[in-house]
Amino acid sequence: MDYQLDLNWPDFIQRYWQKRPVVLKRGFKNFIDPISPDELAGLAMENEVDSRLVSHQDGKWQVSHGPFESYDHLGESNWSLLVQAVNNWHEPSAALMRPFRFLPDWRIDDLMVSFAVPGGGVGPHLDQYDVFIIQGTGRRRWRVGEKIPMKQHCPHPDLLQVEPFDAIIDEEMEPGDILYIPPGFPHEGYSLENAINYSVGFRAPSGRELISSFADYALANELGSYRFTDPDVPSRDCPAQILPQELEGIRQVMLDVINQPTHFAHWFGEFISQSRHELDVAPPEPPYQPDEIYDALQQGDVLSRLGGLRVLTIGDAVYVNGERIECSHPDVLTVLAHHQEITLEELGDALDDPSVLAQIAALVNAGYWYFSGE
Ligand code: SIN
Ligand code: CO
Repeated sequence: MDYQLDLNWPDFIQRYWQKRPVVLKRGFKNFIDPISPDELAGLAMENEVDSRLVSHQDGKWQVSHGPFESYDHLGESNWSLLVQAVNNWHEPSAALMRPFRFLPDWRIDDLMVSFAVPGGGVGPHLDQYDVFIIQGTGRRRWRVGEKIPMKQHCPHPDLLQVEPFDAIIDEEMEPGDILYIPPGFPHEGYSLENAINYSVGFRAPSGRELISSFADYALANELGSYRFTDPDVPSRDCPAQILPQELEGIRQVMLDVINQPTHFAHWFGEFISQSRHELDVAPPEPPYQPDEIYDALQQGDVLSRLGGLRVLTIGDAVYVNGERIECSHPDVLTVLAHHQEITLEELGDALDDPSVLAQIAALVNAGYWYFSGE
């Protein structure tokens, strides 16, 4: 399904993105759910899929984690089932993320889908990331409060909530409505009837994550062999002292490791092109030979990108799932990075080059692209 988002992006970014929450009434007109509650419940029975059930009764909260074997124990109210990265497992749901590609791919994370019965929700909480919550089937009341310092607490070890808050948005959302919430604004959604919600979530790396990943890269690539030096070691009142200029010298040694633009770009491409969620990788068996790739494309077969696979570019370099990809035709890499589906037409004459075919065959044989017919 080709979802059309009715949104003036430049205006939205200027007024709301990372600034204020907003309800986009009927952001999707005539909204049709890409997934049914039964399909979602089925996904949450799979081992590889990250899911949880959250319920509450008389102020007592319960959380259990999938995979689930049955849902028979659940009543008719006050619970919800939440499934992470549904775009990695369910192609029709992945289509719901595409209209948000006005925002860069590297910032988008996953599609979380929740099913809630009346009274169901995860309670008042904050998220660290931007999110667009799309209302599917059913009605749900969403409240959002002002971003002010708030104490967080755990009514259950796996649930982080905030205290009740005054609402700056209080809306009964209907199918196709979208609620955008920037990081740090408290919010809660309670279902009024059986309801599905789709959360297009974003990611923004923290300094801690970046330093930790860069340290791994520096070790793997043997960067930073240069040591601190002090040919004019200064005298001091007490030998125990570390002087400010020495601390600055140490900081400089560390900054010099990061201040290598080629390495910096390469590290970030590898880091940010890794998915935070498991991918449904299924390498074809037997593997494709390059000429079979050629024949399939000639016959009109379409190459589709695996759901949730991150394909990002920095300059001419293309990174796929944590690895830099080389190709003698830069145009082919651009096509791989831009398009979700690729046909003979996009690849054109480049296919006459055996090294291009070999590269595409390697990506198909890794399970990153697959033939979806047509
Ligand atoms: C939900 O769909 O129940 C939770 C979404 C959110 O609050 O981020
Ligand atoms: Co939230």
